[in-house]
Amino acid sequence: MNLIDGKKIAAEIKQEIALEVKKMIDKEERPPHLAAILVGNDPASETYVNSKAKACKEVGFDSSTYKFESNIEEEELLKTVEFLNNDPDIDGFIVQLPLPDHIDEQKVIQAISPRKDVDGFHPENVGRMTIGLPAYVSATPNGIMELLKRSDMKTAGKNCVILGRSNIVGRPVSILMSRTTEPGNATVTVCHSKTQNLAAITASADILIVAIGRPEFVTADMVKEGAVVIDVGIHRVPSAKTKSGFRLIGDVKYDEVAPKTSQITPVPGGVGPMTIVSLLMNTLRARKNEIYP
Ligand code: GUN
Repeated sequence: MNLIDGKKIAAEIKQEIALEVKKMIDKEERPPHLAAILVGNDPASETYVNSKAKACKEVGFDSSTYKFESNIEEEELLKTVEFLNNDPDIDGFIVQLPLPDHIDEQKVIQAISPRKDVDGFHPENVGRMTIGLPAYVSATPNGIMELLKRSDMKTAGKNCVILGRSNIVGRPVSILMSRTTEPGNATVTVCHSKTQNLAAITASADILIVAIGRPEFVTADMVKEGAVVIDVGIHRVPSAKTKSGFRLIGDVKYDEVAPKTSQITPVPGGVGPMTIVSLLMNTLRARKNEIYP
């Protein structure tokens, strides 16, 4: 069994990005600039936005955060989106989700200019991704594809089974894996809460991508000998063995599944570190007008 080391791959990509930024600065060009809109004080959202700002700093990007109270009117939020759409110093921005219930999330996402939608959530980017046009692909799917690419994974003709059909992971990954680009060209099956004979389907997978959001859901009997397993889940559970009193586990029962696999992503240190790096990659693309010349 080989570990797919997301932490190491993410660090390599960050170095490559930092080098490109250095070249820009040497040529007296401005570095990429990522902005984030944060509404309310959900601790997980605050942590995400802080991590994004930290990652920007590490690679030499500028970053800004626009913070609002949770009772902000939708109209005011939309005005900020419009302001960032038109600010030539901002290459890309994200609106941290979830938003408070009184705000129409889709309305906000659709107000973001697709050119600056480095989260890849705007229907225009989702549509472009679907038909194989250049597009901003959202962080987790892009991170998974980058892991496969950089692990030299041959995916053409393989049976790829995806557990989960969410708009931010399962569905986009299913599209990317079936596209005619590499990695891709796989025969894709999407499983979800209504799927029957789930274990028989997952056991047919050469590549199993698990984004079901349930701790240690995938057990050894559900996995084919020699399969590649990508675990997108991340859950904090109590532990008597760690100083913090918690440990992180995935959607896959790692200890019993890993020995059966040819390659597997650990949790933590697999898909997780790739997500912020994906956002940095998209912001660099935005700075270079790569997707929308
Ligand atoms: N909330 C959790 N993950 C994400 C993400 O990737 N982007 C945004 N905007 N919000 C999130």
